[in-house]
This record gives sequence, C-alpha cells and structure tokens, in this order.
Amino acid sequence: LDLQGLNFNLSEEHRAVQEAARDFAQTELLPGIVERDNEARFPAEQVKRMGELGFLGMMVSPDYGGSGLDTVSYVLAMEEISKVDASCSVIMSVNNSLVCYGLEAYGTEAQKQQYLTRLATGEQLGAFCLSEPEAGSDATSQATTAEDKGDYYLLNGTKNWITNGNSSDVCLVIAQTDREKKHRGINCLIVEKGTPGFVVGKKEDKMGIRASDTHSLLFSDVKVPKENRVGEDGFGFRFAMATLNGGRIGIAAQALGIAAGAYELALKYSQERKAFGKQIFDHQAIQFKLAEMATKIEAARLLVYKAARLKDEHKDFVQAAAMAKLFASDVAMWATTEAVQIHGGYGYVKEFHVERLMRDAKITQIYEGTSEIQKLVIARELIR
Ligand code: CAA
Ligand code: FAD
Repeated sequence: LDLQGLNFNLSEEHRAVQEAARDFAQTELLPGIVERDNEARFPAEQVKRMGELGFLGMMVSPDYGGSGLDTVSYVLAMEEISKVDASCSVIMSVNNSLVCYGLEAYGTEAQKQQYLTRLATGEQLGAFCLSEPEAGSDATSQATTAEDKGDYYLLNGTKNWITNGNSSDVCLVIAQTDREKKHRGINCLIVEKGTPGFVVGKKEDKMGIRASDTHSLLFSDVKVPKENRVGEDGFGFRFAMATLNGGRIGIAAQALGIAAGAYELALKYSQERKAFGKQIFDHQAIQFKLAEMATKIEAARLLVYKAARLKDEHKDFVQAAAMAKLFASDVAMWATTEAVQIHGGYGYVKEFHVERLMRDAKITQIYEGTSEIQKLVIARELIR
C-alpha cells in the first residue's frame, strides 16, 4: 500500500472552498450551537444557508444545480463545518454523498431533472433509508418489502435511525422485492413525503449530533410509481453499497473535523490556562498530549485526502474509504476525550464546546458501517 502517486497539493479553488466553509462555520454555525444541541433543535435556518452557499450539492454537476466541485473540496468543507457543528455536517453529508451522489450516478435523466435539481440547491432535503430495526450491519436482511404490482411498487415496512427523517422531502428507500433472489432482489425507490401511507415515526433522543433529526419512518401500503426505481430491477443493494463507499469518505471527513476542532480548542486553552505558576502548555504532559493529537489528526487527514483523491481520479477507493473512516473515527473519539482532559473541569461543561464534540465523535464509529464493518470491508479487500 502506498500513496499511489497521489498529489496532495491543494489548488486555489480548494483553498477558497476551505476558507468559505471555515468562515461560514465560525460566523453562522457557532452562534446558538449550545442551545440547538440542548434543545435537539433542527438547524433549519443554517441548513437553508448551506443550500444558498452551495454546500448541499457540492459534487453535483452545475447542469443539475450543483457546485460541480471534486471530492477533495467536499472533504475540506466537511472538515471545517464539523470542527464546529457535526449536526449540520451529517445533514450535509447525507444530502451530498448519499442522496445526490446516488441519484446523479444511477438515476434516470427524468429523476435527475425532477429530484436532483432541487436536492442539489437545498430547495429540498434528502434522506437515505437502508437501516431497519432488525437490519443494521446485516443490511441484506431487509424486512421492508416493495411488491411489484405492474406499474407501481407497494411499499410496506419500517426504516430506523433515518437522518433528516422528519426534515427531508425526498427519501431513497431500500426494500426487498424478490426474496428468493436475496440481495439481488432488492430495489431502491424514490419516495416523496406526503405520499399516502408514509408516516414519520418517533424522534430519537440522542447522545450526540442532537440537532440532526433521526427518526423511524413507517410505510403502510405506499404506492410508488415504477419510474421512481433507481437503476435496473434488483440493483438496490449494490446501489446502497456503491453509494456508501463514497459516503464513508464524508463521515471520515466529519470525524477528522470533530478531532481537529477539539484539538484547536485544546491548544488555545492550554496557552491561556495557568496552573502551578505557568501556562498548562508548559507542563510537558500537556504538550505531549497535544503533540500526539496533532500527529494522529494529520495521519487521519492523509487517509481522508487519499480516499477523496482516489475517488476523484476514478480509481478503486473502497478500501481507502473504509480505512479513512475506521482510523479517523477512532482518532475523533480519542482526541475529543483528550481535549476534555486538557480543559479540566471546564471541559466537562457545555460552554467550552469540547464535551459536545466528544459526544458527537462517538457516532462516527457507528453509522455508515460500524468500525467492525469497516474492518470486514478492509479485510475482504486484502484478499480480493
Ligand atoms: N461496494 C460495492 N458493492 C459491494 C460492496 C462495496 N463496498 N460490498 C458489497 N457489495 C456488493 C457485492 O459485490 C455483492 O453483490 P453481487 O453479489 O451482485 O456481486 C453484494 O453487495 C452483497 O455483498 P456481500 O455478499 O459481501 O454482502 P454481506 O451480506 O456479506 O454484507 C456488508 C456486506 C459490507 C457487511 C454490508 O452489509 C454493509 O456494508 N453493512 C453496513 C451497512 C451500512 O453501512 N449502513 C449504513 C446505513 S446509512 C447511514 O448510516 C447514514 C448515516 O448514518 C448518516
Ligand atoms: P448492529 O448491526 O446490530 O451491530 C451491533 C454490534 O455488533 C456492533 O458493534 C457491530 O459492529 C457488531 N457487529 C454486527 N455484525 C458484525 C459482524 N459481522 N462482525 C463483527 N461485528 C459485528 N441508517 C440509515 O440507513 N440511514 C441513516 O440516515 C442513518 N442515520 C443514522 C443516524 C444515527 C444517529 C444512528 C445512531 C444511526 C443511523 N443509521 C442510519 C443506522 C446505522 O447505520 C446503524 O446503526 C449501523 O449501521 C449499525 O447497525 P445496528 O445499529 O443495527 O447495529
């Protein structure tokens, strides 16, 4: 394994995107963040602004209302936004790398015109619905059914843990059509909110990313027109897997941002706080923590950039994405815990932000494939 000749130099355009995301996070996401987290309040205004600034359809072609940027630009923006607000960045990540990407890569021209154009601009928000109460890691064991009724599918079942569950307008729903064909009998359907029989279920009360809305979604005899199927009959599971490969780069960048955000706060605090007559930074134990944090964060950044570059160069990035997510999410959990420690008692209260980042970090080891599933993906690639 090596860097495969990849060049990590960032272009002017990359720097501009990074700067714009940093500015937006500091000026528009930071104010009110503690309240939004406390109240688990969906950041509707902030999401609207993300749409206006082009952060919701970053990699979508301008032909469909997107910003036409590459994956490297996307991870740079995800990192900056996640340094401050991981609730906003998961909303952004699902819309960009799961819903928009999935439709642009595999949708029909009519589906792109009808749905992608609105999702890429932020006029509408999307959700990606794979997980179920009894099917998380074991994603092929779908209990939700999409019965073929000729010119429509009849959708029945429950999806769990759906990010943007309440706030989304359009959902990509994975469901089993032909059980005999196992995962090759699964389809992905575009289902609009408001379709009769489609009900938003309970909102989850979460440890972290509390301002993002995570809901169950219930489908009871929902009629979905055939033209809303994405890809050929039976493509739904491979659609989900192929889309998640790229999604994992987004979550890796989110984890990187959470870690880097906590590190920046800890570095600053260590130069302000005094104990035993000197800045705590001057105690070597604190310096060593910060040195180790900076090193691991840089290593995570290289893995994230590598996966993004490979995707941009249309090379195989499955293993690189899984490695980036596995490593960056562990770094996020560890570095945020260290950042709380460096803050002492102040780290344990909300106004210093590091406790929120520590709570937010945990989910990056769980969603879009747990750390155990990333190891499974990496191991399979080792012998492929
Ligand atoms: N890329 C492309 N295709 C893939 C793939 C990949 N990484 N992994 C598997 N596939 C394809 C296989 O080629 C196979 O297709 P064919 O038979 O047609 O060739 C098919 O998928 C089934 O593959 P497996 O036999 O390997 O399936 P499996 O049952 O052993 O499971 C798994 C594979 C990797 C464990 C998979 O089930 C998985 O990724 N589970 C985790 C689910 C997950 O990540 N959920 C995230 C939900 S979205 C989310 O979480 C959003 C959010 O939080 C914000
Ligand atoms: P399980 O699969 O039951 O896993 C339980 C434990 O067993 C884990 O530690 C797991 O790693 C381990 N395990 C399972 N199988 C294996 C194995 N083969 N080898 C080794 N260990 C194994 N899903 C969506 O579809 N869309 C969303 O928008 C979405 N958003 C989410 C937002 C939040 C806040 C949360 C909490 C979840 C979200 N999810 C979403 C679901 C998420 O992807 C799943 O929770 C995740 O894939 C794990 O599935 P599970 O919870 O069923 O755990």
